[in-house]
Amino acid sequence: KKVVLAYSGGLDTSVILKWLQVEYDCEVVTFTADLGQGEELEPARRKAERAGIKEIYIEDVREEFVRDFVFPMFRANAVYEGLYLLGTSIARPLIAKRLVEIAAETGADAIAHGATGKGNDQVRFELNAYALNPDIHVIAPWREWNLNSREKLIDWAEKHQIEIPKDKRGEAPFSVDANLLHTSSEGKVLEDPAVPAPDYVYQRTVDPEDAPDKPEVIEIGFDRGDAISINGKPLSPATLLTELNEYGRKHGIGRLDLVENRFVGMKSRGIYETPGGTILLAAHRGIEQITLDRGAGHLKDELMPRYAELIYNGFWFAPEREMLQAAIDKSQERVSGTVMVKLYKGSANVIGRSSPNTIYSEAHVTFEEDMVYDQKDAEGFIKLNALRLKLLARRNMNAE
Ligand code: ARG
Ligand code: SIN
Repeated sequence: KKVVLAYSGGLDTSVILKWLQVEYDCEVVTFTADLGQGEELEPARRKAERAGIKEIYIEDVREEFVRDFVFPMFRANAVYEGLYLLGTSIARPLIAKRLVEIAAETGADAIAHGATGKGNDQVRFELNAYALNPDIHVIAPWREWNLNSREKLIDWAEKHQIEIPKDKRGEAPFSVDANLLHTSSEGKVLEDPAVPAPDYVYQRTVDPEDAPDKPEVIEIGFDRGDAISINGKPLSPATLLTELNEYGRKHGIGRLDLVENRFVGMKSRGIYETPGGTILLAAHRGIEQITLDRGAGHLKDELMPRYAELIYNGFWFAPEREMLQAAIDKSQERVSGTVMVKLYKGSANVIGRSSPNTIYSEAHVTFEEDMVYDQKDAEGFIKLNALRLKLLARRNMNAE
């Protein structure tokens, strides 16, 4: 009878809105979030009003997104399949959470989303929603209707007097998902992984070849694993990431062309731009280098692929993600200090780090004479570590 729709105001979700009204004959509540996708939200309000929507939720969730989702994830240095910084994956739990909350507030019994039946996003929206409300119903029009081509969708939109942006009349070149952390492009001209992506796919970074010839060095401050300042200026999570995005855009940082494994089983090719996130990841690893114990750091790196996979697969609100998060957060208690990062033509390299909590001991590591380390100790250390290797080598020699 009443459904909360994740509504962007774009053509697809506008068709979904109408379709829910026509096919399900239900009252629709719209939820439009500013996740930093860089689009005006007022058109979404206007379109929702024109569609007769009475309950329109439009919210700026940028700070919550970065503080409660992006930053916890970056404490883990999470990357999926070695390269993907999970920009879309990490936004889905927040949207699912708001959909479920708004359903409770408005007395709706269902939520709806515009993800297709082939992708990861349907899984993420729905697993995260069910984890928060086991009784919620989910409507996924892409899995139900027969508007499975651009032409059919546009025809249907025309028939129902839905506003169609001029550039959508022709074949949409590819599918884009954007937020403060990243922009992802998939489909259409990108579908053949053998063919390089055309330049126009990149939307928020300059081509590294066109980036300034002069490098720029910035200093990022950390407190317990989270970035808190740039060049000494304290910044809120979302403003900090916004500024890093600007540095990244200018220097062409964070472009990625990737073929990844979707949770549903198929491989897909995507173009990603994660400008600020790529700088942040390098800087965070930089501060960990001097503040994390080896045992803690290595364990954390072993857990990371599991943690990243949980986020990718839609298990943000699952107990095992929360368990891993607790371990990761524990490791970050002393991860504070500053990191110097050099930005230059597509690269972000750490060139200096310092911390009041450093474990780095120049006294121990120096190549000069020292007063704290007895080099003779290393002899026994190597002898005992070599013991089993020697026994093994002797056995192997005898066996031959
Ligand atoms: N493959 C990415 C992920 O699963 C992005 C998916 C959404 N992107 C899009 N262009 N529709 O996280
Ligand atoms: C979609 O299918 O809606 C986008 C791609 C994905 O979710 O993996």
